[in-house]
Parts: sequence; structure tokens; C-alpha cells
Amino acid sequence: MTNYSTQPIDFLLTRRSCPFLTLKEPVPSRQELQTILTAAARCPDHGKLEPWRFIVLEKLAMPRLATILHERGETLGKAPSLLAKACEVFTVANLIVTVVSKPNKEAKIPLIEQTLSAGAVCLSLLNAALAAGWGANWLTGFGAHDEEFRKKALGLSPDEYVAGFIHIGTSTSIPPDRPRPDVEAITTWVNE
Ligand SMILES: Cc1cc2nc3c(=O)[nH]c(=O)nc-3n(C[C@H](O)[C@H](O)[C@H](O)COP(=O)(O)O)c2cc1C
Repeated sequence: MTNYSTQPIDFLLTRRSCPFLTLKEPVPSRQELQTILTAAARCPDHGKLEPWRFIVLEKLAMPRLATILHERGETLGKAPSLLAKACEVFTVANLIVTVVSKPNKEAKIPLIEQTLSAGAVCLSLLNAALAAGWGANWLTGFGAHDEEFRKKALGLSPDEYVAGFIHIGTSTSIPPDRPRPDVEAITTWVNE
């Protein structure tokens, strides 16, 4: 249940994320996901460095990730209620694509541009999933920002970061919208 128009501009004017708790099975098949990932990777990338990669987390991986996150949260002294919520993000998930940012320090392209490209991949992935009729949401959480969790749960090197956990599934209710920016208020027109 998505309620999106399929006209490209109308899609972009109405697209929105689905609360992760409303994302259920079925999820895209590996073949369907391959198409979505192909669309996501068709993304602005200064210098064609491909400073990102994907890790597809399937349902069977979720309990292990939640356990590692829970242990890590306890070590870090996270409040039990916050920790339970953070772990739930994994326990209820059926499919998550981790977009890994892997900036190349040796390249002449500024690191900020490489990081921005990873963010662009996240939005492309989100939109590709929505455009294909799935529900999706871009989440992070403290695990994304914790080097130990990234290494233990995802096998990331110290030079790799989580740009986003993109949850994908079947949307079971029409997603609510949120107030959107007043574009006039944030836009400056320059003509001299
Ligand atoms: C980098 C990034 C990380 C985010 N992490 C979270 C998160 O951990 N939890 C959350 O509730 N929303 C998070 N959000 C917000 C949602 O992904 C999203 O912005 C919001 O649901 C509305 O998105 P929409 O414009 O697609 O409807 C994050 C957004 C970004 C850009």
C-alpha cells in the first residue's frame, strides 16, 4: 500500500518513507533487489570512485545483529528502554540494505564529496524501492556510528562507515506524511 503516482515528477512530489514497523513480508526477491540496487548505484559519484558498497541483511541475520547491538549498548551504558528500541529495529526487520560509505583518502576528490555520494546512493535506493512498489525507510541508530558494532556485526574496516540502513518490505498501511519544508523560505534567487 503506497499510494504513489507513477509519473516521475508526481512520484517525487509525493514519495515518502514508511514507518519501519509497518514493513512486513514479502520482501523483494534477490533478483528484484538486484534491479533496485542497480538503480541505486546509478548515482552521482565525482571521479567515479564508487566510494560505497552494499551489504544485504536478510531476515536470518537479524537476531545476530540485534544481539550484538544489545551487548554493545550495555557496554556503552545505553538506557534499557532506548536499547530495546534500537534492537527492535533489527528484530522486526525482514530486509535491510546497508549502504557502506568507504571514502578513499588517497583520491583527490574531497572526502565530503565522497560521503555525499554515499548519501545520494541511500536516497536513490530508497526511491528505487518506493518506485518499484515496496515500502522503505532510511534508518541509522547508534550502531551505525559505533566502530565496534560496525566491525563485529557487519565486518566493516575502520575506514568504512554506515551511511544508512535501508529497510525494505511490503507496506501494510498508507504511510503518513510529515510537514515538508517551506521551499520559498529556504530558497535564495540570485540574478545579478
Ligand atoms: C542519515 C539519516 C539517518 C536517519 N536515521 C533515522 C533513524 O535512525 N530513525 C528514524 O526514525 N529516522 C531516521 N531518519 C529519518 C527517516 O529516514 C526519514 O527522513 C523520515 O522518515 C522521512 O523521510 P521521507 O522524506 O522519505 O518521508 C534518518 C534520515 C537520514 C537522512
